[in-house]
Amino acid sequence: MSDWPRRSFLKTTAAASLAPALPAAALAPLAAGGSPAADAQQAAAPASPRRRELLDFGWHFHFGNADKPSLDFGFGNGQAFSKTGNLFAPCRLQFSVADWEAVDLPHDWAVALPFVNDPELTSYGFKPLGRDYPATSIGWYRRVFDVPAAARGRRLALEFDGVFRDSIAALNGNYLGRNFSGYAPFRYDITDCARYGHPNVLVLRVNATEHEGWFYEGAGIYRHVWLVETEPLHIAPQGVYITAEPDAAHGHAAVAVATELDNDQDSAVRCRVVSTILDAHGREVLRLRSPQLTLGPWSRRGFRQTARLDHPELWSPDHPYLYHLVTRVETDAGEADREETEFGVRSIRFTAERGFFLNGERTEIQGVCNHQDHAGVGIAVPDRIQYYRVSRLKEMGVNAYRTSHNPPTPAVLDACDRLGMMVMDETRMFSSEPEGLSQLARLIRRDRNRPCVVLWSIGNEEPEQGTPRGARIAASMKRLARRLDPSRPVTEAMNYGWGYGLSEVVDVQGFNYGLGPRIDAYHRKFPEKPCFGSETASTFSTRGIYTYQPTRGWLSAYDVNNPRWGATAEEWWQVYANRPYLAGGFVWTGFDYRGEPTPYAWPCISSQFGVIDTCGFPKDNFYYYRAWWTDQPVLHILPHWNWLQWPGQEGRPIDVWCHTNMERVELFLNGTSQGARRVPRNGHAQWSVKFEPGTLEARGYRGGKLVLTARRETTGHPAAVHAAADLTALAADGQDAAVVAVSIVDAKGRVVPTAFDEVEFSLTGAGRIIGVGNGDPSSHEADKPEPKAQGLAARRRAFNGWCCAIVQSLRHQPGSMTLTAAAKGLASATATITSS
Ligand code: GAL
Repeated sequence: MSDWPRRSFLKTTAAASLAPALPAAALAPLAAGGSPAADAQQAAAPASPRRRELLDFGWHFHFGNADKPSLDFGFGNGQAFSKTGNLFAPCRLQFSVADWEAVDLPHDWAVALPFVNDPELTSYGFKPLGRDYPATSIGWYRRVFDVPAAARGRRLALEFDGVFRDSIAALNGNYLGRNFSGYAPFRYDITDCARYGHPNVLVLRVNATEHEGWFYEGAGIYRHVWLVETEPLHIAPQGVYITAEPDAAHGHAAVAVATELDNDQDSAVRCRVVSTILDAHGREVLRLRSPQLTLGPWSRRGFRQTARLDHPELWSPDHPYLYHLVTRVETDAGEADREETEFGVRSIRFTAERGFFLNGERTEIQGVCNHQDHAGVGIAVPDRIQYYRVSRLKEMGVNAYRTSHNPPTPAVLDACDRLGMMVMDETRMFSSEPEGLSQLARLIRRDRNRPCVVLWSIGNEEPEQGTPRGARIAASMKRLARRLDPSRPVTEAMNYGWGYGLSEVVDVQGFNYGLGPRIDAYHRKFPEKPCFGSETASTFSTRGIYTYQPTRGWLSAYDVNNPRWGATAEEWWQVYANRPYLAGGFVWTGFDYRGEPTPYAWPCISSQFGVIDTCGFPKDNFYYYRAWWTDQPVLHILPHWNWLQWPGQEGRPIDVWCHTNMERVELFLNGTSQGARRVPRNGHAQWSVKFEPGTLEARGYRGGKLVLTARRETTGHPAAVHAAADLTALAADGQDAAVVAVSIVDAKGRVVPTAFDEVEFSLTGAGRIIGVGNGDPSSHEADKPEPKAQGLAARRRAFNGWCCAIVQSLRHQPGSMTLTAAAKGLASATATITSS
């Protein structure tokens, strides 16, 4: 039970007080070595009457079976629900887990399954899940935890941030509930069926037979699980809702706080809500005391407070300033509950004529869509890796993230709030039936305080999108969204039917693809409707490859490939950049993801739509976007200049491109000019150069002045392995993680862009390797370490010079860990990381 104060203070002012000069938003994810949770460790405030304990550690896992009760712990023999208290054999305290695997959360069992060449599995990353794979589609999870005797009389609940997928949960043999969605959070009150002063056995049967999407979705308890303990009088789940609308003209913000309290007991109680707002330095800037009100027994009551916040600091991607709301529930007997909520002050407005305005300034949405898996770990992504991913996107110039096509894990939104990234927050199920509305409500109640969220998306490319039925469903969903959060517009990502059906309902028209004439025609017909590109591009490319090798599933990384419905980076961005009425758009996708291996199939197991590969290594288009989406001077040459290793390349004309925001670039090969090119706005520069080994040099000019020089050299043969961790200090919390980027270099230390050497990773000390990757969309190598003579080791080929390992700290085991990356015939490398 020792983790809860850390986690619960994650959203307090403690992080800010560590470095008063920085806003907490900037500090929280970046403080030396700490995980987001660890940054906020030493909060001085007295403990809240609420306890929120992370239950991620000490689970056991076993496969069940979708066909045979005898292989599914008896489930399916018809007796499961006959008597209360008898559900699930593994719920018995004496049940032996001797042959179960010890696991910590987050956990994705699918990522460790072998790849299976079954065309039915193409979209899902070729992992054996589904009705044809009963032996690997059901997972059982078991966790024993203590509930202290002193908790009797308090309220207890389990909160699941997300489980893929259909799960049935039981505590001590009591049915808790069934959760359908693989993405929406859910919660079970366990006050009645907990054992006080005794061990409690929690069991989940997780059924990943059915998919919800058409991409890799993983399997298992892949997000955090929490045990929450409160007084009978407490803030309702997700019961705090704050809006802070800046009034630029008058230099203040209108703050409105709505708080719902639950009184879960037989007696009425009188109480008040005290809402305190702290700035990023932990200084109190506002305190609101409600009148004392009475809550009847077993009732819920809302409190509403409004105030003016003078001279607020505004939140934006460039300045992600966060305030903290501390909500206290006070009775005559003292404090009954306390919860902390991060929020930001910012205004958003979509207009039909001039696109999107953030804090009164026209802001182009430079967005990317993303699925939720990452190299090595599948969907079980440590929180820290979400910060890593959002940081990579920011380097590219991205300012908005679409959580396609599902509610994200809260850590994604933490990273977006704190690092500065707007979010289009999407629900999975387009439906006005109870399940669909419940998923939407859970998403909105959970995320409505986050400044990063600027749009609610109620669906993607739904077959009913252009029909009256679609309009009715959308209207019901929008009604719900408005009731829960009137402060944000509702949209849907539509690929046809624009102007009909649910187009008439949404506040902002989202265009998926259909560049140019279709979009203009819509705008002419509906000049009053704000619009943006909810999904665009779908450009595909393989990192470091400049030819087509269909049998290996590789495509050229020049900006030239897109499916029939998509466009190149340059094509779509030129259309959007030249139309001020459009609010910008979201590229499909920021990162490569498993599944949807367009345009190929087996052996290709990953998509290649990403501007960045599955590991976080940039492809060439990264520099296109960086050139036109940031103010940084960019001059990037492609392709590599290592053509010597294939026969007959000398003298072959090779297309050389520069992604650059220079005005003019002159290219040299071994000192001989290949000519100068003017760079069109939002375009690139290009030459045809006869190959000879040596050095390509590009000189970039602005206003006639040399601003940047870039080089591509023919490297020598692989000589050594190089390793660099993105962080060298972690929290010893068993969750914090670092990405170690490994490259193969020549004798001069230059990355060999055509190296495929196999790297063996081993780790000693206070850490573990939790996954490896290389961005090769056709790699069938194991993501997870496997047993070897001494301990565990992981192997992965370098792919065009690069691969990576994700390492994680151990819980309560501070110290140092050393990752060794070795390859046959090459000098090996180590990366040392400490955890404290
Ligand atoms: C879109 C769809 C995405 C993805 C993409 C590939 O139509 O919304 O989920 O499949 O196509 O180009």
